[in-house]
Amino acid sequence: MTKKVTAPSVLARKGGSKLKMVTAYDAPTARIADRAGADIILVGDSVANVVLGYNDTLAVTVDVMVHHTAAVTRTEPHALVVGDMPWLSYHSSPEDTVHNAGRFVQEGGAGAVKLEGGRKRLDMVHAVLDAEIPVMGHLGLTPQSVHAMGGYRVQGKDAHAAYDLISDARALADAGVFAIVLEGVPDTVADIVTNEIHVPTIGIGAGVNCDGQVLVFHDVTGLGAGEYLPRFVKQYAQLADDAVAALEEFFADVESGDFPSEAETYHMPTESEEILRNLSSPSSDFLADEAMER
Ligand code: KIV
Repeated sequence: MTKKVTAPSVLARKGGSKLKMVTAYDAPTARIADRAGADIILVGDSVANVVLGYNDTLAVTVDVMVHHTAAVTRTEPHALVVGDMPWLSYHSSPEDTVHNAGRFVQEGGAGAVKLEGGRKRLDMVHAVLDAEIPVMGHLGLTPQSVHAMGGYRVQGKDAHAAYDLISDARALADAGVFAIVLEGVPDTVADIVTNEIHVPTIGIGAGVNCDGQVLVFHDVTGLGAGEYLPRFVKQYAQLADDAVAALEEFFADVESGDFPSEAETYHMPTESEEILRNLSSPSSDFLADEAMER
């Protein structure tokens, strides 16, 4: 039997075998991710763009995220489930932050939460850790800062910005996070961070030298029909095309009458069928009596 992955077991993988993380937002995608051998399932706030049709991640609330997190954890995956704290759920006070993080654990069944930002968010990180909830950090291209960044842009391209990011990573690691996602940063920056800190880095558009990699489920599998794909995505299947082909075949069978066939049809026992047909024939006294009574 495969052992349940936990935040401490992820931390212990630093410098060992690569960590495999993928998003999932519901039970079927969670089951697929777990069967494929994910170490970590991230219930990302990317659910906003990927599943709920928003243009960015800013619209989702704690209620929405907890709802999706619970759908994932009900499948009882062996992977660690990390709930992504949405924008404004960890920005106002440590008390609110702990309350919101606690909902991911109590109602969502998550084993950890992720939040974006470095030194700016340290008070919140400490508060959540003090409540015994493991925290995953997220630095670089942090989508919740889309307006502050002026768009989705690779971060840490100049030496000063890169140094800032490295300092954020050190601060998060020292605070006690069990892993840090590095998104949309040059590979050199990810390489330096990975070598400098004692916690695993998980890259997305951060080069090959991180301790693990993460991608969005719908991007890797080609389920996000027609969605824009960032350069860092590698698509390993075309599930949306497969789904269209399957539905086209189904609809053609409906039109032709080939569906449902005998294999997909229920029958009554012959005796009951005969009685029913007699009862409902125009000459049946039973139906005539019924009609009179009405
Ligand atoms: O929300 C998300 O999917 C994420 C990952 C891309 C890291 O934060």
